[in-house]
Amino acid sequence: MPELSADYFDNWYSAALASAHDGEVSCFLGLPDGVRSNSSLPGRGLDEIARLLQLSGSHDVIDLGCGRGQLRLELVRRTGCDITGVDFSSVAITAAREQLADCSANARFVVGDMTQIGLATDCADVVVSIDALYFPRPLSAVTEECRRLLRPEGQLIASGWEPTGREPRMRTALESAGFADIAIEDRPEWAAIERYRWLRLLEIDNADDDLALAADQAEAGKVLSEWQERRRVLVTATAP
Ligand SMILES: C[S@@+](CC[C@H](N)C(=O)[O-])C[C@H]1O[C@@H](n2cnc3c(N)ncnc32)[C@H](O)[C@@H]1O
Repeated sequence: MPELSADYFDNWYSAALASAHDGEVSCFLGLPDGVRSNSSLPGRGLDEIARLLQLSGSHDVIDLGCGRGQLRLELVRRTGCDITGVDFSSVAITAAREQLADCSANARFVVGDMTQIGLATDCADVVVSIDALYFPRPLSAVTEECRRLLRPEGQLIASGWEPTGREPRMRTALESAGFADIAIEDRPEWAAIERYRWLRLLEIDNADDDLALAADQAEAGKVLSEWQERRRVLVTATAP
């Protein structure tokens, strides 16, 4: 996964917000009705992350790379946690804040780079990240920031992708930041649903030259051509 800039994501979100096809992806992923995602996490992945959050008994949660924040709001509804969403795309955060007007969920959203967030040290019980933690370089810049934000024994829970047949990159970064209990587990059932989503996207006729759909279809072609080269993973670790 290449490092991409805030400008890149601002353009990506602007296109998604204007797209007539916005929402179809969530349908393919089996997410709850009305929840619009900008990741590849399927509904059952969201269920698993919600369960882990509940088990942690936590209250203060930070969501790194929250995007438009809809998965965040869904997690708040299910768990009652106080979740702060952080993303460096101001377009995404503006869209996330607009949802709060008609949503009673306890959540707030902040514009910030996940390698250097303007939030206090030791402010979180859990850092959660859905398909976002793997973007910044080096990965250790993110894991160091996660350790700074988390209270001792705090939990990191993240979804992402690792290259097949190699030592997980996130393990090295987490170890060097001092994390313990590191688990990087394959989730082939998430991968199968993600693959279905990319294939379904390619079937849509882009007759109206929809920018977001064109970008998604280009991404689908790339991802499917490299399908064997990556594994879908759930990462969990405990802060020192
Ligand atoms: C694939 S999207 C996932 C968005 C969201 N988690 C979801 O599930 O809908 C990745 C997100 O990571 C954010 N991101 C990437 N690099 C970042 C960084 N260095 N700091 C903050 N956010 C970043 C992007 O703006 C984007 O919203």
